[in-house]
Amino acid sequence: EVHQREYLCNGEIKPWNGPVSEVYSPVGFFGADGFKRKLIGTYPICTETEANDALDAAIAAYDNGRGEWPTMSIADRIKCMERFIYKMSEQRALVVNLLMWEIGKSYGDSAKEFDRTIEYINATIDALKDIDRQSSRFEMAEGLIAQIRRSPLGVVLCMGPFNYPLNETFTTLIPALIMGNTILFKPPKHGTLLHYPLLRAFQESFPKGVVNTVYGRGAVVTPGLMQTGKINVLAFIGSSKVANDLKKRHPKINRLRAVLSLDAKNAAIITKNADLPLAVSECILGALSFNGQRCTAIKMIFVHKEVADEFLKLLSEAVSKLKFGLPWDKDVKLTPLPEPNKTEYLTEIVADAIANGASIINENGGDTVASFFYPAIVYPVTEKMRLYREEQFGPVIPVIPFESIEEPIAYQIDSPHGMQVSIFSNDAKEISSLIDPFVNLVSRVNINSQCQRGPDVFPFTGRKDSAEGTLSVHDALRAFSIRSLVATKM
Ligand code: G3H
Repeated sequence: EVHQREYLCNGEIKPWNGPVSEVYSPVGFFGADGFKRKLIGTYPICTETEANDALDAAIAAYDNGRGEWPTMSIADRIKCMERFIYKMSEQRALVVNLLMWEIGKSYGDSAKEFDRTIEYINATIDALKDIDRQSSRFEMAEGLIAQIRRSPLGVVLCMGPFNYPLNETFTTLIPALIMGNTILFKPPKHGTLLHYPLLRAFQESFPKGVVNTVYGRGAVVTPGLMQTGKINVLAFIGSSKVANDLKKRHPKINRLRAVLSLDAKNAAIITKNADLPLAVSECILGALSFNGQRCTAIKMIFVHKEVADEFLKLLSEAVSKLKFGLPWDKDVKLTPLPEPNKTEYLTEIVADAIANGASIINENGGDTVASFFYPAIVYPVTEKMRLYREEQFGPVIPVIPFESIEEPIAYQIDSPHGMQVSIFSNDAKEISSLIDPFVNLVSRVNINSQCQRGPDVFPFTGRKDSAEGTLSVHDALRAFSIRSLVATKM
């Protein structure tokens, strides 16, 4: 068990003697009254007072752009970041272990999340060197010589999601930090403890007040921070509902920059010319990696009527071969779900589809044991069903048969989301005719492959309600800075 009684503020690891939140793992045990999640630790429920102290520390460290950190040379900021990488790497075993216990992510995926985060930080350092080279560029015009710079924006509030509590939090925190901003970061509710081993690494790597933590109930501490009007950038990965609520609280919304990655309902389209075994293996990865709990997961499959039977047969067979188990079991693919009421929610939306005419077409689909949910392939899904609209964020695969490609295009046009799409076809002409309609509706079109964010050097964003701003290395460095110039009359 990990009992955290400390938080990081203004360069100090401060003791916490107030109330704590208990952390329960999705892994548990069966007792006399059924399944019980295992208690794995506690963390501080700080109040608005500590959140405001953290904000004051970040404001003081920024000091209107005159602080040690925003004025530090890029080479020196990179040195601090390299020290952080070294200290963070020393905590790998503990953080990976906590990822497994806190959010039920398999050992392989947890280790990958950690290593991918280190790679992301290194890639950010390389990208910053590139941007710095461009920034020292001079432009001349009409008797003026201008030096273009990239300046930080101020205080950034970073909040990541439970599904990638380390990696996604850091995809905003790291670029924001290295560009010279000062940081408040609130770890996600599921996936808080795993940040604890990193507090000292932050403290020992960066000047005081540059990185500060905000612990406690999000609904209590974050609205107040926004209401101060002193947050310059909201970097949030999660639901559009929470993001909009937070944005609205800022009294000077025109002065707030938002960098957001939000809801998505990515579709896969299986045309009659698709390589079906390939489409199936990619859809399994897309729909069920980390139990479908990814913003980039495939959350809807359109299959051409002529190949629907064969596709569904292959898909059901592939699902039946996936290994269920605990996060540390060898070769495990499906693991327990961290959100406490998730199995009930998934059961409810599947029941709604069945009540409206669909069936579960795979054996054991939709069965629940403890915090496990056995993947359900639901067919045929129609507009009447909740599954058509709601982002299930779990192991439920809705499938819709289609005759004309205009049907999935119409779905995408009507959708409030616009993150990604996957198109499966072996006909080059058909593929090229489908790229244009989709690339103007979503921010990434995947051909014969699953939806995904990586590789992390690719731009990552979405249209409509799916995102604001662009993440991933070069773009993220731009998102957390602004171009300014020094113009000198010649
Ligand atoms: O939840 C959204 C993540 O950014 C997805 O990342 O596609 O690499 O799993 P991924």
